[in-house]
Amino acid sequence: MLARTTSDVSVLPPGVEVRAGQLEDPLPLADVTSVVYCASMGFGHIPPVVQQLESAGVKRAVFISTTAIFTSLPSRSRAVRVHAESVVNNSSLDWTILRPTMIYGTARDRNISRLLRLLKRSPVFPLCGNALWQPVYVEDLAGAVVSSLDSDASISRTYNLAGACALRFAELVRTAAHALSRRVLLVPVPLSAAVVAARLTRVVTSEQVRRLAEDKAFDYAPAAQDLGFKPRSFSEGVHLEARALGLL
Ligand SMILES: NC(=O)c1ccc[n+]([C@@H]2O[C@H](COP(=O)([O-])OP(=O)(O)OC[C@H]3O[C@@H](n4cnc5c(N)ncnc54)[C@H](OP(=O)(O)O)[C@@H]3O)[C@@H](O)[C@H]2O)c1
Repeated sequence: MLARTTSDVSVLPPGVEVRAGQLEDPLPLADVTSVVYCASMGFGHIPPVVQQLESAGVKRAVFISTTAIFTSLPSRSRAVRVHAESVVNNSSLDWTILRPTMIYGTARDRNISRLLRLLKRSPVFPLCGNALWQPVYVEDLAGAVVSSLDSDASISRTYNLAGACALRFAELVRTAAHALSRRVLLVPVPLSAAVVAARLTRVVTSEQVRRLAEDKAFDYAPAAQDLGFKPRSFSEGVHLEARALGLL
């Protein structure tokens, strides 16, 4: 595993070999035969990384992209991600691209763990938009990474990976509250007001607020067929996360 000297490696299972490095520098690829690229493809590192993998003779590579690539909103990183995917597509690697939706399931996620902690404290939740969401549980995504490495059918293919079913945002919040055995009062907030509040408070960007109102539902049938991808429901995953966070 490649990790920066500043990375928290305490979360890794025992026995994992850690090589210090960062994507801006030449990669320590000696004896590496397969790579799983987990850093964002929106940082601009993909072209030089692909070149290094090709030169080093590393053949198999799985890249974690994102369904955010489909956003219709202006996004600074989207063009970088689209270019990164095309560089992978045009490479001589045996590549697979996995595009997860929002990933949740551990205390280290930056989305559902925050929602659960908020719902534990507050019986009232501001509802901004009521778009479709389909977050993917982290272990289901990890299973798809392993299946990709094991499956020749996934070579030169790109897959969207989502949770079992899409939910409206209100339903997602109610399901999270239910996992905590809480009732929640949803108070609709107009999108325009939330965008202004985001600009003023800078807690989240106005782009992130606008994305709340964008549907984020994706078909994962090709992954089900080639990778045996069978994601769990949000109801099951959020219950597991609430327990893992010690909130039950
Ligand atoms: N989180 C989500 O909900 C979500 C949704 C869809 C897709 N994705 C995609 O899934 C992947 C993982 O997401 P994530 O949220 O776990 O990402 P993350 O926390 O931003 O980063 C993942 C890893 O990349 C490492 N990294 C970042 N820059 C690096 C550099 N310059 N050199 C070496 N290592 C570097 C980080 O190291 P440090 O530990 O040192 O920071 C971290 O271990 C990404 O490709 C992301 O775009 C995430």
